[in-house]
Amino acid sequence: MTESNLTQEASTAAAAPQAGYYQRHIFFCLNERKNGEACCAQHDAQAAFDHCKSLVKAAGLAGPGQVRVNKAGCLDRCAAGPVAVVYPEAVWYSYVDTSDIDEIVESHLKNGQIVQRLLTPAHLGR
Ligand code: FES
Repeated sequence: MTESNLTQEASTAAAAPQAGYYQRHIFFCLNERKNGEACCAQHDAQAAFDHCKSLVKAAGLAGPGQVRVNKAGCLDRCAAGPVAVVYPEAVWYSYVDTSDIDEIVESHLKNGQIVQRLLTPAHLGR
């Protein structure tokens, strides 16, 4: 590739930003603290993550242009745990069980509708 081509490509990319690689990305905090302090692992976050991953895959939603389900370390909102956050909307959820995950997948990840009843209270951090 010539310098001219690189310049042209960079210029085109700047003019028309690439759409997100994933339509939506959900991160589950799976952090565990051995010292007894609050952490999402105390609330079976791994099971919720596994459940979400299975649902997204079974629904045919997984992959580029669609949905990605990822593990995360502490997201620093431990007092509201277990938590997951969905981008690009930056919507935080505090869930209780796998039926909540069912609702997040069906409503938000699949149809773009935020699940209001599961929103993490804004004032809760670590
Ligand atoms: S341990 Fe989950 S947000 Fe901190």
